[in-house]
Amino acid sequence: MSVAQRKDDHIAQCLKDPDVDRNQACFDQIRLVHRALPELDFDQVDTSITFLGKKLSFPFMLSSMTGGTSKETIKINQNLAKAAEECKVALAVGSQRVMFEDKKAEKSFRLREFAPSVPLIANLGAVQLNYGFGLKECQKAVEVLDADALFLHLNPLQEVIQKGGDRNFENLSDKIKSIRAKLEVPLMIKETGCGFSKADYQLLINCGIRYIDVAGRGGTSWSRIEHLCSKDDSNLGLDFQDWGLTTAESLQQAEPFRKQLFLIAGGGIRSGIDLAKAMSLGASMGSAALPFLKAALESKDAVVKLIEEYREQFKIALFLTGNKNVRMNDD
Ligand SMILES: Cc1cc2nc3c(=O)[nH]c(=O)nc-3n(C[C@H](O)[C@H](O)[C@H](O)COP(=O)(O)O)c2cc1C
Repeated sequence: MSVAQRKDDHIAQCLKDPDVDRNQACFDQIRLVHRALPELDFDQVDTSITFLGKKLSFPFMLSSMTGGTSKETIKINQNLAKAAEECKVALAVGSQRVMFEDKKAEKSFRLREFAPSVPLIANLGAVQLNYGFGLKECQKAVEVLDADALFLHLNPLQEVIQKGGDRNFENLSDKIKSIRAKLEVPLMIKETGCGFSKADYQLLINCGIRYIDVAGRGGTSWSRIEHLCSKDDSNLGLDFQDWGLTTAESLQQAEPFRKQLFLIAGGGIRSGIDLAKAMSLGASMGSAALPFLKAALESKDAVVKLIEEYREQFKIALFLTGNKNVRMNDD
């Protein structure tokens, strides 16, 4: 199966099966401390931050999803880009590996004209560094998107569950370190739904990495998606569908490294209230993918509406916790 076909299959399964979203990121078990006397004028609450040198209306990123050759894929990415620009939030694209297999897929990643002023983040699988990819491919991914940074994603669970997946994750940190040293834009790392542990953060800090999207358990389950896509009778994907550290646990694991890292809370962020809770646990911003998929297939306006809901919820949460602004800036 080609990479483009596989990406389309993933999207079809995400739209079909509501249980792909595990709904267990644990934010419902966290309560922020309410201020009955916030001593603030709500209209003066400022949700903006600076990220990668650009101003965002609030600390939020539309997380990596897709790219490819199909009409739907191009539409999804263009709607996400236009909405990101209108709402002034960051946008990360899905894995660009597909464009190295089929050059026609580049079109789905040429998004700068739709999002001239917001941070765009390119994306490749880190494991590809063990399968022939190197600095040249990373630079090409950045160039096609005209990106402000590159995400290398980590997905060891997905690769072992996927039939014929790329399973050699040996010595990846050395390769990440070398790419980081040579790439002209910041190199950022993300998981894809299983989170990070203390040992991972330490390794990545040793590689010179500062930006990490924790993408923890509790939102989209790639193990479940791979199970749904597989044609064999193995149940491994279901056995591991709830594997990993939740987004909240992943943020707690980063506690000793707060000053060295810029943490993005991804994985199960389903509202601006979840975002505020994640930031109370040490994140500097948040990201979400799955909730925006259906909206992006529909229209730019549907994406804008959902982002605006997140922003309003986040602003109210700041107000009710007595915060006039977001204290975290990326400088
Ligand atoms: C349809 C879909 C496709 C995805 N494709 C990618 C990808 O290509 N690269 C990547 O790094 N993450 C990918 N992800 C993972 C997301 O970026 C995100 O880290 C994860 O889904 C957790 O966020 P969520 O719970 O809000 O969906 C994908 C997620 C979805 C839902």
